[in-house]
Amino acid sequence: MQDGLKLGVNIDHVATLRQARGTAYPSVVEAALACERAGALGITVHLREDRRHIQDRDVVDLRGSIATRLNLEMANSPEIVAIALEIGPDEVCLVPEKREELTTEGGLDVRGALDSVKETVQTLSAAGIEVSLFVDPDPDQLAACSDTGAPYVELHTGAYCDASGHAAELELERLVKGSNQAHALGINVNAGHGINMENVQSILAMPWLDTLNIGHSIVARSIALGIEDAVKEMLNAMAPYSGGEV
Ligand code: PXP
Repeated sequence: MQDGLKLGVNIDHVATLRQARGTAYPSVVEAALACERAGALGITVHLREDRRHIQDRDVVDLRGSIATRLNLEMANSPEIVAIALEIGPDEVCLVPEKREELTTEGGLDVRGALDSVKETVQTLSAAGIEVSLFVDPDPDQLAACSDTGAPYVELHTGAYCDASGHAAELELERLVKGSNQAHALGINVNAGHGINMENVQSILAMPWLDTLNIGHSIVARSIALGIEDAVKEMLNAMAPYSGGEV
């Protein structure tokens, strides 16, 4: 049993709305503070290499204004690693990145880039930044995560959230096994991607969860409810979580 499942809100799409018109609004800082007031324990942003939504300035502004944890999602690239070292988020989540993708597709290939990921984990950890690796619930990838010394993994829930019927059952089984494996390896487990009010209950079947990182569905829901209530609605849905091996 853990103390309670935490929610990190990914506010990239607040910036998407701003970038669509090149306006100064909506403010990502205002959105982040509203998420915190509603009970979110972290704010996540993805500084993409193409800067399609979050800009460097946003990360600096958030660093200077939020009271909870700042989690920076980023590619394992020298340019972005240098920015992370300069700004100093509490946490970095290394993700794969392709310019043409709509959103992060698939997990990081930690096994295939072990030396480079390990070096980045060491560099960021030495600067006091906690590193998480965004991976599919694949036994070999999770073993590779352990080899890097990263304290966290974030299990990619996208394949489960996009599936239905028997395929969804199999994906959920993979996530449950992945959580158990990561926990057995001494790695903390987060999860995210594609989680919404319809599927969050089933995601709670994953044991050992520390944090769910949720973005698109909360920002979308905030159009009807306002962002504070959208965050509270998700937190209420997550409240029954009991954690532990299943
Ligand atoms: N976690 C990671 C590593 C991601 O890349 C994303 C998408 O940026 C999310 C969580 C949030 O996904 P969604 O916006 O689908 O909730």
